[in-house]
Amino acid sequence: MARNRYDMDEILEDSFDLGQLKRLGGYISPYRNKMTVVIILMLTSSALTMAVPIFFQRIMDVYIPARDMRGIALMSLLTFAVAVCSAVAMRFKIKTMNIIGQSIIHQLRTDIFYHLQELPFSYYDDRPHGKIQVRVVNYVNSLSDLLSNGIVNTVTDLCNLFFIIIFMLLCDVRLTLICLCGLPLLAAVIVFIKRKQRRAWQIQSNKQSNLNAYIAESINGIRVTQSFVRENENSNIFNGLSGSYRKAWMRAVKFNFTMGPSVDMISAITTSFIYVLGIRWILAPDATLTVGVLIAFTAYIGRFWAPINTLAGFYNSLLTAISYLERIFETIDEPVLVKDAPDAVPMPPIVGEVEFRNVCFSYEEGHRILDNINFIAPQGSTYAFVGPTGAGKSTIVNLLSRFYNVDSGQILIDGTDISTVTIRSLRTQMGVMMQDSFIFSGTIMDNIRYGNRDATDQQVIEAARTVCAHEFISQMENGYYTEVNERGSRLSAGQRQLISFARALLADPKILILDEATSSIDTETEILLQKGLTELLKGRTSFIIAHRLSTIKNADCILYIDKGGILERGTHEQLLAQRGAYYELYISQYDFLA
Ligand SMILES: Nc1ncnc2c1ncn2[C@@H]1O[C@H](COP(=O)(O)OP(=O)(O)OP(=O)(O)O)[C@@H](O)[C@H]1O
Ligand SMILES: [Mg+2]
Repeated sequence: MARNRYDMDEILEDSFDLGQLKRLGGYISPYRNKMTVVIILMLTSSALTMAVPIFFQRIMDVYIPARDMRGIALMSLLTFAVAVCSAVAMRFKIKTMNIIGQSIIHQLRTDIFYHLQELPFSYYDDRPHGKIQVRVVNYVNSLSDLLSNGIVNTVTDLCNLFFIIIFMLLCDVRLTLICLCGLPLLAAVIVFIKRKQRRAWQIQSNKQSNLNAYIAESINGIRVTQSFVRENENSNIFNGLSGSYRKAWMRAVKFNFTMGPSVDMISAITTSFIYVLGIRWILAPDATLTVGVLIAFTAYIGRFWAPINTLAGFYNSLLTAISYLERIFETIDEPVLVKDAPDAVPMPPIVGEVEFRNVCFSYEEGHRILDNINFIAPQGSTYAFVGPTGAGKSTIVNLLSRFYNVDSGQILIDGTDISTVTIRSLRTQMGVMMQDSFIFSGTIMDNIRYGNRDATDQQVIEAARTVCAHEFISQMENGYYTEVNERGSRLSAGQRQLISFARALLADPKILILDEATSSIDTETEILLQKGLTELLKGRTSFIIAHRLSTIKNADCILYIDKGGILERGTHEQLLAQRGAYYELYISQYDFLA
């Protein structure tokens, strides 16, 4: 898939896959018993309310002519009892269906989030994070109305309609047929607008997604925005996106608004015919209709069109929901490209020999980033990667943790191809400090303990001491229990690095990966840290990436990476003696410092 941006619409599905509604049915089915109870209750209540026009008809045609006050009082009492019963049933329905609707939404949201956590880096590389968020939060919420009211209302309305038609037929067959003539007209309206309406809602959801993507991006980049005084330009972009969203929304609801008035119009036309013909039949010399029957029938007309109106509303919210459902299930179905092989076994306890054998890799098809990488790092050795920006150093270590799959070749740890073992068993034995390490909201203690929840406070402090972070942490107002924000915005860049460094160490990994672990740390701290590290790295295989060559001088082997290949390899002394690229780099840093 091409990389998506906030100003790029996502691809729209052409035809709706009914299977998606079936899948939604799968989420609903655990609640079918409760829903059945609600539906039965609603049907009983509406069957009772349907008897009310009969009470009136009896008052008009029987009790008033007979001046039977007791009969009239009885009918009034029954009408009141029916109203109380239906109010109680309605309250029960609203409460139960809201609970059910929210439970289904909770389940859907949890499933998406669970899946998102499994999706590989490449998924996140390809799309703005705001577009992912909008699916988990907004799209799922938009199903709320459909799930809490739509389904039960539809079933009860359909049943109601059936009963009403029976009652209407019992009153008068001719009037019923006139009333039913309206339905084909309504079907014609639906067929006419259906396609356009679905597309309009899809576009609306796309525009909402774009807007969200831009908001998320703007919040993440707010510091740069303000330092480059880009507020006005950004507001213009936002206005544009918000304007498109508004336009798309207006266009989509316009179709929804078409339905209600169409139902009203058709109902008005058929009702007029019923009045005209009904009164003619009453006034005819051989009157084939009584006033009471016409009054009862007109009461049914209202009840006939009311469920049709709500069914039309349901149809609207179904089309709206479908545009969101497509996106929700698309996310849940997103293939996990980096996953355990079907016959994957747990990685045995790692000893530490790492081999890259003819490894080739590209992030995007046809754009090769690593070309035939070969090296063997013996157990306990320290391998360093140096080379220009964008050469592929971070990519190499990302492959070792299997954050991406290689295109060809193999990566072996202790002779086992890492693609044949379970990802969990592999990653739990590795300590990774990424170039752009993340600090989570919570205490510093929690942040260091992130990868090893069983670690004691003492172990956390020990890890912090090793990376020379203990001092600054102790000086913070609550020491290790100082709360930091997401991204660690209240810490300095070097402090963030040290915390991430301690986090990588705490897992007591057999293989340690440090990508620019000390680039933001002052030289004095780094020298101190180096001393502690030498002791710590003993017995572990470690991969260190650094631009500052002083950091890696003591490595057992230095690989100079350039344009995705290994240009030079050897110890610091060997590479200097070669007088190649490494030598040039070393001299330039030396000159720079001199
Ligand atoms: N997620 C990605 N999707 C596509 N291309 C990427 C991605 N990450 C990196 N690249 C490309 O891969 C190449 C190697 O990137 P890599 O991050 O491995 O470089 P590096 O050697 O670590 O550089 P630096 O020293 O700046 O950290 C670069 O050309 C970069 O543009
Ligand atoms: Mg890098």
